[in-house]
Amino acid sequence: MASVASTNDYANFLCDTRQVNEGTLIWARKQLNGKGQRGNHWESENGLCLTLSIVYFPDFLSLEKVNFLGVFAALAARDFLHYYFPNPDFKIKWPNDLIVNNKKIGGVLIENNVQGGKLQRSIVGIGININQENFGSKLPDAISVRQITGRKTELSDLINPDLFRIFDQYFLALKEGRFSELLNDYNTHLWGKEINKTFSTPQENIIAQPINLNFDGTLTIRDVKGRSFAVSWPDYKLNLRD
Ligand code: BTN
Repeated sequence: MASVASTNDYANFLCDTRQVNEGTLIWARKQLNGKGQRGNHWESENGLCLTLSIVYFPDFLSLEKVNFLGVFAALAARDFLHYYFPNPDFKIKWPNDLIVNNKKIGGVLIENNVQGGKLQRSIVGIGININQENFGSKLPDAISVRQITGRKTELSDLINPDLFRIFDQYFLALKEGRFSELLNDYNTHLWGKEINKTFSTPQENIIAQPINLNFDGTLTIRDVKGRSFAVSWPDYKLNLRD
């Protein structure tokens, strides 16, 4: 599709108005009004970023495991980046930001539809900065593939069977209930692991080390006094900068 306000909104619209198969991917060259997490706007310069959404029907997943959708999507998006650009060390910042060189290269927005206490559908939206080189003063911590590789990438080259293969592989792990495997994989790529980082809470900023993601979506952290405890997002927000 040439342009659309938000690929997530368009995917939801398609699901509401007609039959859409699981795995349907909506890709917009230009996303005019992209949505980020927690009501934020997702900025991407026209035609320079990968902005796509994939439709899933994870009705097999109990609501207490809903956070695993974020785990699967972040892992798949990270693996996808790693597959095309093997050298940079792509990390996942809790809960599901994609990071390289301590800067944000991409993000994941999951919108779930729950009916009768059951998950019906999930729109997994992925935004990755590919060719953008200027982010302006509002986004000082953004980075793109082009900035780290020095090369321009044709966006349409990235939409191919490998993308589907990678996302299918992680979705299958979710479907088969391989939660420990997903968690281990996530924790292997956790950004800032065992390094002092700053967390913002509504009251204060605290210095603590991300230790590992837990089954319930909480993150175990260790503060400077050596005390470990589990925290929830967004009560605790992990900052990119100290
Ligand atoms: C974030 O880090 O805040 C999540 C950003 C997700 C952006 C993607 S771009 C494709 C899809 N459509 C949207 O409107 N948002 C997501």
